[in-house]
Amino acid sequence: MTKNNYHANHSYKRSKPPVTDSFPINGTDYIEFYCGNAKQSAIYYQNAFGYKLVAYCGPETGVRDRASYVLQQDKIRLVLTSAMSPEHEISQHVLRHGDGVKVLALWVDDAEKAYNTAVERGAISAIAPETRKDEYGEVKMASIRTYGDTLHTFVERSNYQGPFMPGYIARESAIEVKPVGLKFVDHCVGNVELGDMNKWVKFYQDVMGFKLLITFDDKDISTEYTALMSKVVSNGNGFIKFPINEPAKGKKKSQIEEYIEFYHGAGVQHIAVATDNIIHTVGELRKRGVEFLHVPDTYYETVGERVGKIAEDMNEIQRLNILVDRDEDGYLLQIFTKPVQDRPTVFYEIIQRAGAKSFGKGNFKALFEAIEREQAVRGTL
Ligand code: FE2
Repeated sequence: MTKNNYHANHSYKRSKPPVTDSFPINGTDYIEFYCGNAKQSAIYYQNAFGYKLVAYCGPETGVRDRASYVLQQDKIRLVLTSAMSPEHEISQHVLRHGDGVKVLALWVDDAEKAYNTAVERGAISAIAPETRKDEYGEVKMASIRTYGDTLHTFVERSNYQGPFMPGYIARESAIEVKPVGLKFVDHCVGNVELGDMNKWVKFYQDVMGFKLLITFDDKDISTEYTALMSKVVSNGNGFIKFPINEPAKGKKKSQIEEYIEFYHGAGVQHIAVATDNIIHTVGELRKRGVEFLHVPDTYYETVGERVGKIAEDMNEIQRLNILVDRDEDGYLLQIFTKPVQDRPTVFYEIIQRAGAKSFGKGNFKALFEAIEREQAVRGTL
C-alpha cells in the first residue's frame, strides 16, 4: 500500500460538524502506545485482533531512537512505539507506566488553529505546531497535554497521500492477517485520581468545547465492595466520546484505584472498538487467544426480561459471554477483554450498537463483580 486511502475509503458516514462547533474534530486519527517491545506487540495485534501492518519507521528508515509500527483495521489506526535507549522519554514512560496509551490523536482540518485555540483556552502545550514533509505531501501536527502523561495530538492530513505520515514507510504484514470486523473507535475512557474527574470534564468543556453527555455516580456504579464515578464528554459532532472515571469510596480498593496504582497515575483505561457483528468478532478473538472477563450464567437468566427481544441468537450471546443492555434508543452488545499487558491497566471493549447511544449501565454491576473476581485473584482487592 503506497497510497493513503484511509480517509478516502472510509469517509465518515455522518454529516460534517455544524459551523457552530467551536472546536471541530473530524474523528480519531490514531492511538499510540508506548510499549516495551513494539515488534512483538505488533504481532499480537495482527494475529489476535486482525490489524494489518501498514507503515513503519525505525533505524532502517533513518529514525535512530525508536521503532514504530502502524496497524490498521477499517478506521482504527494504532501506532506501537518502542525506544532504543534506556534514557529515552519513551523508555521512561514504559518504566513508569508499563505498556500504555501515550497519544489519543484527533483528526482536524487545521492543526495549528486547533492547537492555538486549545492553548488560548488553557491547555498545556506538549509539542508546538510542526509540518512534516515527504514525497507524498505534508502533515501538520501539534500536541497538548491531557490527564496523566497522556497527549492529544491534532493531525491535519488533507495534503498527504502517503501510508501514514512523513518519516514512515509503507510496510505490509509478513503474515496473512484476517480482520475480525473491528470498524472504528467508539469511545476512549480515562481513569483519573480521586477528586480530579470534574477538573478533566471542565478541561474538555472549556478547552475543546465538549458537552457533558452522561453522569454516573457511585449509586449507579457500585457493588458491595467497590465504587466509581464517571462522566462522559463528547465533541461537537459526537464522534469523540471520552468517559472520565474517578474512584469512589468503597469497602475495598476500587478497580480505578488499582489501575492508578499500577499505572502510576492517570491514563487511558479502555478503548472501545465497534463492530457490526459482535458474534463473529468475539468468536474470532476468542479463537485467537484474546481473554475476556467472565460473567456467570446467572447473568443470562434475567437478561431477556431486562432487554426484551434482540435480533441476535441469545444462545450464541451466552456461549460467547457477551453482555446486553437497552436504553430508550435501542440496545447494545458489549464485552470487555482482560488487561492486554501484565499490569492490570489498559483493556479493550468490543461494542455493537443497535440504536443504543449509552454505555451499558445495566451491565455495570455484573461487570464490576467480574473485575473484582480478577482483582481478588491478583491479590489487589
Ligand atoms: Fe466503555
